[in-house]
Amino acid sequence: MQKFFDVHTHVQFAAFKDDLDEVIKRARGAGVSMINIGTQIDTSKAAIDLANKYEGLWATVGLHPIHTSKSFHDVQELGGGESAKAFTSRGEEFDYEKYKELAFNPKVVAIGECGLDYHRLEEDTKKKQFEIFERQIELAQELKKPLMIHCREAFTDLINILKSKIVNLKSPYPGVIHFFSGIKEEAAKLMDLGFSFSFGGVITFAREYEKLVDYIPLDRILLETDAPYVAPIPYRGKRNEPSYVIEVGKEIALIKKITLEEVAEQTTQNAEKIFSI
Ligand code: NI
Repeated sequence: MQKFFDVHTHVQFAAFKDDLDEVIKRARGAGVSMINIGTQIDTSKAAIDLANKYEGLWATVGLHPIHTSKSFHDVQELGGGESAKAFTSRGEEFDYEKYKELAFNPKVVAIGECGLDYHRLEEDTKKKQFEIFERQIELAQELKKPLMIHCREAFTDLINILKSKIVNLKSPYPGVIHFFSGIKEEAAKLMDLGFSFSFGGVITFAREYEKLVDYIPLDRILLETDAPYVAPIPYRGKRNEPSYVIEVGKEIALIKKITLEEVAEQTTQNAEKIFSI
């Protein structure tokens, strides 16, 4: 069976509370391995619990930039779809030692999702996002793990912060920029720093990603769903899940004019290399 790797998903979220087991079995039955991404201390712990319970599942631990301060997030912002419910983040202080302890679990393969998100950001929370991101880069560095980075409307600052820190991050594979939404020039700078990119459902319906996906070499591309958000065509508007990652692979094959098998093989290999799986 062809193997696929969904490197950025969140089946530990409440959207899957009623049928989690079936969702995971559907993915595994379709040849899909996955990394469940922590976004706060609770969802990081939950990701580890799942990784301990199921084969083919791994976890990351991290504090998402939107959870670093008290803030409201509407459905539109979360990409729409029936499972994207508006919520208020309560804001969490980053506890380095707590995250470090969690990251010792052998199934934890990266630190994140962490990064910068300037979408409707209050100026005073920028500083906080910055500091918390820096701490997580330091954690990744201490534990020699790659970063799983979230960045929205903040690529200039992201590149600057990575440039200043990356000299110390000695891994040949410093990490992945998930749901990359920057421009070619930014992709080029991030590739120079050693980073790879994961693409999800959005590329199946938003044509502006075509040139970017074509530009980035296949050995720097990974597949993701970011489930429960932003399902690919033909599931658009529904709750997303890891088995749908194959649709993302099909789109990359179309854009790059290669076979789905080539996409599956190379992107799985990329994931296993970057995350030392
Ligand atoms: Ni995510």
